[in-house]
Amino acid sequence: MTSEMISVQDLAVRFTANQTKKWPWSKPGVVKAVNGVSFAVNRGQTLGIVGESGCGKSTLVRAIAGLVKPSHGTVRVGGKVVDYSRRKEVIALRRQVQMIFQDPVASLNPRMTIRDIIAEPLVMFFPEMNGEARETRVHALLDRVGIPRRNANRYPHEFSGGQCQRIGIARALAAEPKVLLCDEPVSALDVSIQAQVVNLLQELQADMGLTLIFVAHDLGVVRHISDEILVMYLGGMMEQAPADALVARPTHPYTRALLSAVPVPDPSQRITPQVLDGDLPSPLNLPQGCLFQSRCPARLPECATTRPDLKRDGRHYRACLLEAS
Ligand SMILES: Nc1ncnc2c1ncn2[C@@H]1O[C@H](COP(=O)(O)OP(=O)(O)OP(=O)(O)O)[C@@H](O)[C@H]1O
Ligand SMILES: [Mg+2]
Repeated sequence: MTSEMISVQDLAVRFTANQTKKWPWSKPGVVKAVNGVSFAVNRGQTLGIVGESGCGKSTLVRAIAGLVKPSHGTVRVGGKVVDYSRRKEVIALRRQVQMIFQDPVASLNPRMTIRDIIAEPLVMFFPEMNGEARETRVHALLDRVGIPRRNANRYPHEFSGGQCQRIGIARALAAEPKVLLCDEPVSALDVSIQAQVVNLLQELQADMGLTLIFVAHDLGVVRHISDEILVMYLGGMMEQAPADALVARPTHPYTRALLSAVPVPDPSQRITPQVLDGDLPSPLNLPQGCLFQSRCPARLPECATTRPDLKRDGRHYRACLLEAS
């Protein structure tokens, strides 16, 4: 039976942009990094989140993890609303929801051995565990992610990017989480290593019933591992659907453009890559109507003034004023 593990309702994140030195008297601007995102992920399932650089993917997952403060909206984990203003709740959330970061080397403390890095969450979340039990657990976690135990005394700089990401995964698993928020976990790795890390995450998911949120730049990485895919643009949701349906029948012009950029091995299936003209607006100054209007090849006059709501058709959601085709 499937049941909801994590959900987000109308989440928004705002940042106050620094004033420039040139005009110190100017009012600080507000960066609207995430604008009204809603989704739900069932236990053991994977939600892929895609969109180009700066569209708010990291900010969204960091807000869920309690690393940046949402300015609006609610997050539910296991059906319970998270109150980010209460420290105790945020600590409890960190046990259930762990993050895997994009830069595996930078995300590990260079002054700590990998034993201490993996043991840190054990000390924090399982204070009753004695030293021996902790050592056994660290070894089991190293085995699980395929790092030889004899390396426990080494430091992060002695490992490759792929190995550092495995260590980051072991550290996340130490908390025994239910949800992993993976923020472009393979983007910084060599292509040959990417598949190994993705396979490891999938194996762990199958073994432990983990729920995954998997962020990526492009659809090529997430289409095979996601049950559902959410497409973001300028902090807003453009489309969300089961992965197969989104790839086979994309209904939003932005998703179509993203898909046309994914390489396909079969020449008969190839579509001409669609280049998006027009400027990407600044999140400091969002347009009044549709967020995608300045680059949309199918723009209508009303797109300049009307922000489309997210409309639902079965399990397919889309924010666009064009008739679905
Ligand atoms: N701490 C911050 N202060 C001000 N603006 C921020 C801050 N963090 C992010 N932003 C802005 O918020 C927007 C979204 O950034 P975010 O890093 O979430 O995008 P992203 O989709 O993860 O991009 P990438 O694919 O490059 O990782 C960007 O315009 C970014 O400049
Ligand atoms: Mg990011």
